[in-house]
Amino acid sequence: MPCTVVVGGNFGDEGKGKVIAYLANKDKPNIIARGGVGPNAGHTVYLDGKKYGLRQLPCGFVYQNARLLIGPGVLIDPNVVLDEISLTKTEGRVGIDYNCAIIEDKHIKEDQASEHLKNKIGSTGTGCGPANVDRINRTVKLAKEIPELEPYHTDVPLEVNLALGDEKYVFIENSQGFGLSLYHGTYPYCTSKDVSASSAAADVGIGPTKVDEVILIFKSFPTRVGEGPFKNALTAEESKERGIEEFGTVTGRPRRSGLPDWDMMKRAVMINGATQIGITCIDYFDRSYAGTKNFDDLTNQMKSFVKEVEDKLTVPVTLISTGPDTDHIIDLRDEKIAEKRE
Ligand code: GTP
Ligand code: IMP
Ligand code: MG
Repeated sequence: MPCTVVVGGNFGDEGKGKVIAYLANKDKPNIIARGGVGPNAGHTVYLDGKKYGLRQLPCGFVYQNARLLIGPGVLIDPNVVLDEISLTKTEGRVGIDYNCAIIEDKHIKEDQASEHLKNKIGSTGTGCGPANVDRINRTVKLAKEIPELEPYHTDVPLEVNLALGDEKYVFIENSQGFGLSLYHGTYPYCTSKDVSASSAAADVGIGPTKVDEVILIFKSFPTRVGEGPFKNALTAEESKERGIEEFGTVTGRPRRSGLPDWDMMKRAVMINGATQIGITCIDYFDRSYAGTKNFDDLTNQMKSFVKEVEDKLTVPVTLISTGPDTDHIIDLRDEKIAEKRE
């Protein structure tokens, strides 16, 4: 399908980066465009055994022929994005929209010094909230004013819409997850904008009628980092016993783990208009199954979890991630999409 949006269904860190890296290698899109908030995100991806924790660039960079774009809705920290471009050696194929808003040192300082943001909300301290406030006040600087970004300046909405007009293949890689949405999440314990599929499309400048598929990613055992309500959370001891402890990509903070919250997942399906579901970290049920690539090889417990997701959410589970490596995945898209058409 020409335009696919990938979004998170829990509280972020579902493993969107890994799923997108797989899809990029497999489907070979012409463009991968980042939506979402900004460098508060940390998307983990492995390439040639090296781990990357990308905050601004699309994880789809692993597919060498894709153009990598950052839409005007996304905040840019020039230091972070320039470092990532050189780290990933992607100089020739990155485009940053003229109208991306810029995070300055003052925003980072304000985020980190704010009792409300840093302590009550548990922000990532990356300046995203204060920069979005300035954007709303219409005082923020835009990427077009920053000479260091000049080599990358482009009109992202135009590039993406021209590509779609030519039947080219575009991925939109969003960040964060449903429970962190400013509109639909656990306010005030959320991020500084909506992070649903409609906003992801708006972030890169395409209309809702142009989106063909919305892949919503859920983690088998959801995690939450920062403050805020977390239904069905496990205690730190329970997570440790299950061997599913995690730490934040950006902040290194421990992530709380939990069991699925079906009501929230149903709402995430509804509000994102999900057409497919991806489940990550299925190996958390049994680590000895990490890396499995065939559905038939999964344990009965894992298979019944997948069935429960499909029965409760009535959307096909097309991708099942079984480990952190890019190719640790069970891809059921051909089979499930054919089934859906019947
Ligand atoms: P945000 O945009 O920050 O929400 O991030 P994200 O959705 O890209 O996820 P992130 O990389 O922050 O966290 C996911 C973690 O799980 C990373 O450490 C991944 O390497 C790891 N991971 C992803 N998929 C799997 C999986 O199927 N199994 C296991 N064991 N780990 C996985
Ligand atoms: P902020 O977006 O830095 O203001 O942080 C607000 C809340 O969103 C905090 O609870 C953060 O931990 C959480 N958050 C923001 N971005 C991410 C992300 O990419 N993954 C997980 N949590 C996030
Ligand atoms: Mg993350």
